[in-house]
Amino acid sequence: MKQTRFRSILFVPGNRSDMLHKALISEADAIMPDMEDSVRDEDKASARDQIHQELDQLVASGKPVIPRINSLPTGLTSEDIAAVMHPGVWMISVGKMNAVEDLLAVDAMLASAEKKSGLPLGHTGILPWLETARSLLHPDMLLLASSRVQVCAFGADDFAADMGFLRSSDFRQTAWVKAHIALAARATGVWLMDSPCTHFRDLSPLNLEIEEARMLGFRGKFAIHPAQLDVINKGFCPPPGEVGKARQIMEAWNRAPSGQGAINFEGVMVDEPLIKQCLQIIAQAEQFDVK
Ligand code: COA
Ligand code: MG
Repeated sequence: MKQTRFRSILFVPGNRSDMLHKALISEADAIMPDMEDSVRDEDKASARDQIHQELDQLVASGKPVIPRINSLPTGLTSEDIAAVMHPGVWMISVGKMNAVEDLLAVDAMLASAEKKSGLPLGHTGILPWLETARSLLHPDMLLLASSRVQVCAFGADDFAADMGFLRSSDFRQTAWVKAHIALAARATGVWLMDSPCTHFRDLSPLNLEIEEARMLGFRGKFAIHPAQLDVINKGFCPPPGEVGKARQIMEAWNRAPSGQGAINFEGVMVDEPLIKQCLQIIAQAEQFDVK
């Protein structure tokens, strides 16, 4: 089955072959060779060629490889897509999606590229970045526009640029829009990833960002440096204390006499909704092997 549940996806500038190979042996759940904002205009063609040439090797590593192509206004999208058509590439990412028409345009480009490459129609998923004011008016409509969308991302820096403010460390600046996209992602069953944290030496801002994102319902986060991966992978697993408590609650629930729809667990009422939360925590812990 194609994996769509990522805690961490590591960005690598597409023209940095050295980093691409380091990313493969990193702890990232997936890697994202980038042709977009980490590559200067004069290097766009060489980044595309480099990724194209390395694809066999990247994909053979078994780690999901999700190339990020250039957005529609650049005019490069179609050529970028052609370069990453590959049986082992089952998702691409594209930034600055504004509206349903944009998603449908990328969907159509993929359909045509799949046909030319002999890949089954619908083989390649789309991981869109919702990072403009327009896209965030009705994020649910964007996420439902194509069945290729199983994972999406919020981009804080492009969002700040589009809104006309400088991104700061004050969470109030974006918490409201992050809650909105989290709601849309949950309602449409799409896995939601948070923007990367730009600090990679001091990891305390990253820890705070993870705490905020997880609390709002984000499921994972991008990394820009391997040093961020351990913190992200741990941060998007339920903490061992939470898992232990969920297991204790389930034991108490399973021991309760039948007919009791609500029980007393250490002075706190437990009923069906809390049981659902506990089961989700335990399932997540099992998926990521948290003891
Ligand atoms: N993927 C794989 N390896 C990486 C890496 C990445 N994203 N970032 C750093 N490394 C490697 C470096 O090549 C270096 O390897 P070495 O020790 O064998 O030389 C090692 O990790 C330590 O790197 P460091 O010196 O700490 O960082 P740097 O100054 O080389 O690079 C950045 C810092 C931010 C320029 C770099 O991490 C980067 O380009 N990140 C990705 C940016 C990106 O893709 N942005 C787009 C989305 S926002
Ligand atoms: Mg962006």
